Amino acid sequence: MKKKLLSMIMCTTMVAATLAGCGSSAGNAGETTKTETSTEKTETTKEETTVEDTETATSAAPTSSEDEEGKLVVGFAQIGQESGWRDAETMSIQTYAEEHADEVVLKFADAQQKQENQIKAIKSFIEQDVDVIGLAPVVETGWDQVFAEAQDAGIPIILLDRTADVDDSLYSTFIGSDFIEEGKVAAQQMAELIGGKGKIVEIEGTVGASAATDRKTGFDDEIAANFPDIEIIASQTGDFTRAQGKEVMESFLKSNPDIVGVYCHNDDMALGAIEAIKEAGLKPGEDIKTVSVDGVKGIFEAMVAGEANCTVECNPLLGPLFFETAAKLKNGETVEKWVKSVDGVFTADTAADVIDGRAY
Ligand code: AHR
Repeated sequence: MKKKLLSMIMCTTMVAATLAGCGSSAGNAGETTKTETSTEKTETTKEETTVEDTETATSAAPTSSEDEEGKLVVGFAQIGQESGWRDAETMSIQTYAEEHADEVVLKFADAQQKQENQIKAIKSFIEQDVDVIGLAPVVETGWDQVFAEAQDAGIPIILLDRTADVDDSLYSTFIGSDFIEEGKVAAQQMAELIGGKGKIVEIEGTVGASAATDRKTGFDDEIAANFPDIEIIASQTGDFTRAQGKEVMESFLKSNPDIVGVYCHNDDMALGAIEAIKEAGLKPGEDIKTVSVDGVKGIFEAMVAGEANCTVECNPLLGPLFFETAAKLKNGETVEKWVKSVDGVFTADTAADVIDGRAY
């Protein structure tokens, strides 16, 4: 077993320290060491299990503790820390668990953007016989086998914020937003901003992620159907990170001098694109209009500064609903197959009025 552990699955007791240490955020693509405690661990306690280096198997030591007696024990396999949105979702889950520590035990895995790590975490949760497993799938496909293993073990799966391309029978519910609708609304906002015509570019999220696939479908289909004078001249992944959003926009700007708008599948990539636009000597929000998805604080600040135009909200504060749904599943209650989030749309006109009230 490798001595150095790259990440931890943690219980609620570790929440505060974790949030302080992990506060990632925009632009942290691949900075996986931010999640480390840098402590060489020699043993695994009952409240802590591990996700090891990517080349090695992830194995979480089985936990069975008096602390878990009578409580709702939930394992959650998070994607990583690619965006401010993701940090807000993690905080929502961990904070709920911390505030309900008398009823809930959370085993939390940060998969550092790797599906293999999420699968290892799920297998570990099955081994530990948790009551419910939660997963934000980094990509849509490749889950059938491990979901079937959870089903065989009698453990329900909740998909949180992203969907998986599996048979409906393999998971209990999906809690999250309608990504296709987000893309459609983003297209309408872009069309309004650029007067229904011009060349625009698109910066996509992680390849194979439902949030990227569906936001692209919703946007591209709406433009094709209703805005014949708008041309999407380039579309490329920025992996949902600020750093890659900037890189992609830089390359778009080099080969396309007449871009009038950029649509980004999340705000972090838009913030990176805004940097690239400024470095190219142009004015984001004016010369090149921006529309993105999420509603994180950073994009509101950019809108207030006149450097961004619109964000389509996608609520990351799913912790309470996640645990309430998990409790219902543990009790054998029926839950809806899709618990849809209610989201808004925010533009530069009103950003200053609402920025102080933003919770993430
Ligand atoms: O699945 C939701 C998406 O994932 C968010 O829009 C993005 O910021 C995150 O990384």
